[in-house]
Amino acid sequence: MELGAAAFGLFLLLLLLGLGWLGPGRGGGKGLPPGPRPWPLLGNLGQGLQPLYEAYRRLWQQHGAVFTLWMGPRPTVVLCGHRALRQALLDHGEAMAGRPHIPAQHLVSRGYGLVGSSGERWRQLRRFTLSALRDLGLSRRVMETRVQEAAQRLARDWHRHQGRAFDPQPDLSRAVCGVLGSLLFGPDFDPEDPPAREFLQLSEAYMRFFRSPAAQRYNAFPGLLHWLPGQHRRALREDTRVQAFIRAHIDAHRRRPAPPAPQDFLDCYLRRQEQERGKADTEFGDENLVALVRSLFMAGTETTINTLQFGLLVLCKYPDVQARMRQELDAAVGRSRAPGAEDRAHLPYVLAVLHELQRYLDLVPGALPHATTQPLDLRGHHLPQGTTVIPLLTSAHFEEGVWETPEDFNPGHFLDEKGAFRKREEAMPFSIGKRACPGEGLARLELLLFTTTLLQSLELEPAGPPDAIDLCALRRAFRGSSLAFQLCARPRA
Ligand code: HEM
Repeated sequence: MELGAAAFGLFLLLLLLGLGWLGPGRGGGKGLPPGPRPWPLLGNLGQGLQPLYEAYRRLWQQHGAVFTLWMGPRPTVVLCGHRALRQALLDHGEAMAGRPHIPAQHLVSRGYGLVGSSGERWRQLRRFTLSALRDLGLSRRVMETRVQEAAQRLARDWHRHQGRAFDPQPDLSRAVCGVLGSLLFGPDFDPEDPPAREFLQLSEAYMRFFRSPAAQRYNAFPGLLHWLPGQHRRALREDTRVQAFIRAHIDAHRRRPAPPAPQDFLDCYLRRQEQERGKADTEFGDENLVALVRSLFMAGTETTINTLQFGLLVLCKYPDVQARMRQELDAAVGRSRAPGAEDRAHLPYVLAVLHELQRYLDLVPGALPHATTQPLDLRGHHLPQGTTVIPLLTSAHFEEGVWETPEDFNPGHFLDEKGAFRKREEAMPFSIGKRACPGEGLARLELLLFTTTLLQSLELEPAGPPDAIDLCALRRAFRGSSLAFQLCARPRA
């Protein structure tokens, strides 16, 4: 056991012995929604309620769609089912748009950037980010071209394997990091350059820490643990190198003449900084830029790589699904030109598969925690300002009575009786409302173009028997050994 965890355990034991049983009473406490009875200090931690995406069904049944859990000394309200989620995040969008203080996140962002901020800072950075991504994506199609180029390169590389088994993860990682890196830092970003490689490795290491039990302990007791040794100290040390990498790119952009039209996210931001020059209360300083770029990169790479990996597993496990997608693709696009965003309209089955794989994968089951920005009355409960809220997306993705076969992978969930694609409001892999993922457009574009470009010229097969692929067990898996697999890519005749 690491030293930090051992010291923490000892401290807790002494404190519990010293204080005795001083629980906050019934789960809700303080007039909050009801919930399981918490223990002193630990709250509901250690009561077998983690992971919440497995334990929630019983709690939902016992306490209703809105219940309270105590994460250590702090209450957290959990929302279950698509109705409660939509009501809270859409009908009360403004009141739900805050973020609680997440110590493991604050450790490196120090309150700057988009992911962890609230209020005016968040509003301004969010508006800017959406407009910069839209500008790079839609108006000048920089995004589509970069994704198409990366997808073509990937398909060419996989042709070279000539049907031999290989691990697709490193290539996918390079391709996705290359696309996002080039959108943020410019077309010269090369994920193979040693500084970029270190940046990718350190970003991955931080994300692993952020999801780890060590980070959960740190989030529950930051004041105490901050000064003890542990993984958080390494994350802090490594982040100075992450920041140095980003700052070097900012400096390089400042040294060269500004292009007539922005080529990347840094160009967009530096232009805005110029427009804001002289404003005393501007949010467009360098600290926010570093934190913003850092969070876009970290939030946008692992998620997309994982989804693509899971998609490949689906194609390997279900050759009939793969064949039907290819048939549709041959008819709509053919084999002589690259698939593009506009082909979506003619690919209903492909879209249904991509939407179903995100529902079934359920990659971010509890979104990121929200916080109420004002007192909120929700479904007969009163949530004071500053209440932490977990929108449990998983509860909508597997909701009984909503999906025909919630526990099965079934593209039919997203097709109507005529075979046309139908969007389902109960599927929310990017969350919904004012905090919904700002990278949704890019991620959906990548899923579409990487998948169709590979299918256009390659037949994908698992290296082992398809029955050995247990998709259910791999749901929510983040990239790592559990999602490691080999496949064969055979050039089509
Ligand atoms: C398949 C890929 C992706 C999935 C499943 C995904 C999912 C999510 C989810 C569930 C959230 C939390 C929303 C909430 O708090 O309610 C989120 C937030 C976020 N995502 Fe994504 N995401 C993906 C790709 C991306 C990409 C490509 C980018 C960057 C270009 C990105 C940037 C962000 C940022 C910055 C936030 C925080 C937004 C805020 O706090 O206002 N994500 N994402």
